[in-house]
Amino acid sequence: LRIAILGATGRMGKSLLRAVVEAEDLELVGAGASRSSAALGKDAGEHAGLGALGVPIGGDPAMVMAGAEVAIDFSLPTATPANLAACRALRRPLVLGTTGVIGLEAELGVAAKELPILVAPNTSLAVALLARFVKEAAAGLQGYDVEILEAHHRGKIDAPSGTALVLARIAALARGLDAEGAVRADRTTRRGPREPGSIGIQSLRAGSIVGEHSVLFAGEHERLELVHRAFDRMAFARGALVAARWLAGRAPGLYVMDDVLGKSRR
Ligand SMILES: NC(=O)c1ccc[n+]([C@@H]2O[C@H](COP(=O)([O-])OP(=O)(O)OC[C@H]3O[C@@H](n4cnc5c(N)ncnc54)[C@H](OP(=O)(O)O)[C@@H]3O)[C@@H](O)[C@H]2O)c1
Repeated sequence: LRIAILGATGRMGKSLLRAVVEAEDLELVGAGASRSSAALGKDAGEHAGLGALGVPIGGDPAMVMAGAEVAIDFSLPTATPANLAACRALRRPLVLGTTGVIGLEAELGVAAKELPILVAPNTSLAVALLARFVKEAAAGLQGYDVEILEAHHRGKIDAPSGTALVLARIAALARGLDAEGAVRADRTTRRGPREPGSIGIQSLRAGSIVGEHSVLFAGEHERLELVHRAFDRMAFARGALVAARWLAGRAPGLYVMDDVLGKSRR
């Protein structure tokens, strides 16, 4: 399967390149960065410390994904509109791993009528399973307060994490609550006890933490905690490749990691 990686010079991009090189069934045919990237024109593999791969880093997403069967985007939200436009123009399936993408729902919906798009703010397979557990716990433990704690490295630019927001949404929907209205990412501006039905999210940013999420279900006399800790970005990279294989050749539509988990034979 021929793969193009957008955001190939970043932390995730380097792990994705390594994962593609390690996979015998995948071939890297494109590697993208911003138009002002210091790495433009360099060999993507050499830039990632993997040795030459014969794929130069490019700044034009359409050129980067021209020879690919699937595009994988782990760049920044500012890059996503142009990457999505290129996918539409070329009809390339897209695994969108970039988080913090705001206001693009309509465009994604329109594009998904023409090509398969997987929106995956967390491509770890274990997190996809965690989401299922959260749904079950939220529905089964009615009356227990749901709170989420997430921790990431100091370089992460969006907060709360896309994963924390997805988990909060899943918990809210499992209880028939308005997902957007339930989230409390900041309790400092309001005095008063915990609002019933609210779902708090606390964000830590420190050091090199790759990504951790704890979902608490706290009752009167007990609490359940569902915890995921990623200690290497390869967890997200390998999951993204499982998703890319799953997405290739699929019918147009908007997919999530839960779809991949249900049908993956990994
Ligand atoms: N889905 C998941 O499981 C998962 C896991 C971890 C992270 N993420 C998300 O993945 C994204 C990347 O994370 P990261 O830690 O790898 O970030 P990063 O190290 O800052 O890398 C960002 C990448 O995007 C490129 N880029 C920046 N601006 C661009 C633009 N305007 N057009 C095209 N490319 C651009 C950068 O290239 P140059 O700087 O070289 O130009 C670089 O390759 C973030 O949104 C992060 O939250 C998702």
